[in-house]
Amino acid sequence: MKIAIGNDHTALQLKKEILEHLEARGCEILNFGTDAPESCDYPVYGEKAARAVASGEADLGILICGTGVGISLAANKVRGIRCVVCSEPYSAELAKRHNNANMLAFGARVVGAELAKMIVDSFLDAEFEGGRHQRRVDMIMAIEEQG
Ligand code: RB5
Repeated sequence: MKIAIGNDHTALQLKKEILEHLEARGCEILNFGTDAPESCDYPVYGEKAARAVASGEADLGILICGTGVGISLAANKVRGIRCVVCSEPYSAELAKRHNNANMLAFGARVVGAELAKMIVDSFLDAEFEGGRHQRRVDMIMAIEEQG
């Protein structure tokens, strides 16, 4: 599975730990985030990772900024992206099972590394259930189509 990563300067240490975790799971990483400690603008990295997911270059995306909020907002402006901010595993699992989320975001200033790994695992291990959930996801995407 190919995972697009995006992050800003707040997330360098957490990203390192998440990358190690993803590699241990056998994931291929496409790193669109910054690796420099200087303050930077999270929309740049959210957009790059989101475009990789939207184009099919990556299967899924994981975004990290201070809260996960700003970078997820940027990603959700890319057509086809359903990015969710999660601070616990249950929402991450349901975001895939019910909402077919294709990107996960969390905050380096909000969650610790071990919790973040549990959130990532819940997201990656869950499968979209389709059925009535497909209809609702289609309704969301129709809103995007209407502009
Ligand atoms: C950077 O200070 C911070 O604003 C950013 O990482 C993120 O939390 C924005 O949503």
